[in-house]
Amino acid sequence: MEDGNIKLFLSLLSRPQHYIRSNMTFSQSSSSSSSPSAPPSSSPPSSSSLYKATDLPHLTLTNTEKKQKIEALLSPLILTEAQQQQVREVFLEEMRLGLAENPERPSSLLMENTFIPQLLDGTECGEYLALDLGGTNFRVLYVVLKDGKFVEENVDYFEVPRELRLGPGEDLKGSSAGRNFKLGFTFSFPMTQKSLDVGILVSWTKSFNCSGVVGQDAVSMLNKAIHKRDNLNIDVNAILNDTTGTLVMGSYLDHRCALGIIMGTGSNGAYIEKVERIEKWLGKHPEKEMLVDIEWGAFGDNGVLDFIRTQWDNAVDEQSLLVHSYTFEKYYGGKYMGDLFREVLLTLAKEGCLGKGGVGKLATHGSITTTTVSTIEKESMEGEQATARKALEEAELEWEEEDLEVLKYVAGLVSYRGALLVSLLVGVLLQRMERPHCTVAIDGSLYRHHPRIRPLMEHLIAKFAPGHPFDLRQAHDGSGKGAALVAAIADRLHKNGATTTTTTTTTTTTTTKD
Ligand code: GLC
Repeated sequence: MEDGNIKLFLSLLSRPQHYIRSNMTFSQSSSSSSSPSAPPSSSPPSSSSLYKATDLPHLTLTNTEKKQKIEALLSPLILTEAQQQQVREVFLEEMRLGLAENPERPSSLLMENTFIPQLLDGTECGEYLALDLGGTNFRVLYVVLKDGKFVEENVDYFEVPRELRLGPGEDLKGSSAGRNFKLGFTFSFPMTQKSLDVGILVSWTKSFNCSGVVGQDAVSMLNKAIHKRDNLNIDVNAILNDTTGTLVMGSYLDHRCALGIIMGTGSNGAYIEKVERIEKWLGKHPEKEMLVDIEWGAFGDNGVLDFIRTQWDNAVDEQSLLVHSYTFEKYYGGKYMGDLFREVLLTLAKEGCLGKGGVGKLATHGSITTTTVSTIEKESMEGEQATARKALEEAELEWEEEDLEVLKYVAGLVSYRGALLVSLLVGVLLQRMERPHCTVAIDGSLYRHHPRIRPLMEHLIAKFAPGHPFDLRQAHDGSGKGAALVAAIADRLHKNGATTTTTTTTTTTTTTKD
């Protein structure tokens, strides 16, 4: 491990920005920093453009010729029934290959064994820590559990620093003296797990790209960093993905939870799989079920989803930090949706379908955010359009009133496609798990702030998995609190003498095109 990375972890451990005392609910603190600001309404509702959350987006223009041209240009964003069916079939096949011992070809789905065979059983007691790294913030949590329930919760927030710095770490040192803590580490990146407490980084995703970490065990990196500090008596006993944490947090809220989803900067899912289907997990195992981290953000990295790929997806990918990887996530993830929207508008401007000539700032990567898309969607549902207006002004286009309708249409299309794609996968998973009822735990900024994602998903999943009752349940801060719960489960498994280490074949890995 590089010295710099030890410093990263240590500096993350030692730079609290604020400290929230016990029993503060996490939702209050985390939502305040990132909620989109909806500008006040500046024009009366236009009934022609009002639409329900579950409607397929429609374009309302008086110029029929222009309307038809835009609809034709943007039709690749609307998946046909045949394409939807193909996505389902390909997903199932990629899952099979990802779980196989000797797959005929590499799958784009990692299908990683999490080594978590059980959820909470209500006996978990004690103090646990959790670290959560993977989004815009880095967090340290301290919780106390009694009979499997939280009785105390504390959280520290850190910004991930640009420069690696070694701080004093006084807060944590002071609090741990003389006691031993088990710590669950949420590391929200693709990793190969050798056991519950060994996770080898496969590749970075989203906005992370620190050198020298791919191929390393994130737990031993963290343990080394911790153990360099005399007063820190902490053992990392579990590493997990944020979707796994979300699933476990979901099961805390509702024992019928069997699927955890993140729709935030990135996107992914974890579900409960039958051990007999995890062929690549060699040897005999007493466990019946296991949580599996799908890593569906990479779905299609091997080209299997090229049949739905558009010119705008290619453009977003080309401008991304990690080009030619995480294909599926780039179709709708919070880090990308704003750029996707902007790329579509750029094409329309070039084609003479938006503005009065010129493209203004539409060619500038990052100039429109996903928050803008979410807010335009919210306002469309309310008959408002202040944010669409602001976006056109900020893009420095010469525009006319009807262009507002075009923006609303494009925001609707990219949002609808995202919700549809996730719902297709969820439908497949519900059918595969065959539970009498499945609660689906979801978290992530896109899900929380986009007004149509939830109603659309409820509508579409019911259509794709008829006869499979489900609930969508927001598991707020599942990636943080879920990690503390996993540390407690790992502690219980260890005390009960369960084995959490074994061999998984590594023939099936995520592929990237370069
Ligand atoms: C990215 C990561 C994945 C994580 C997801 C959501 O896709 O690779 O591990 O679960 O983002 O944060």
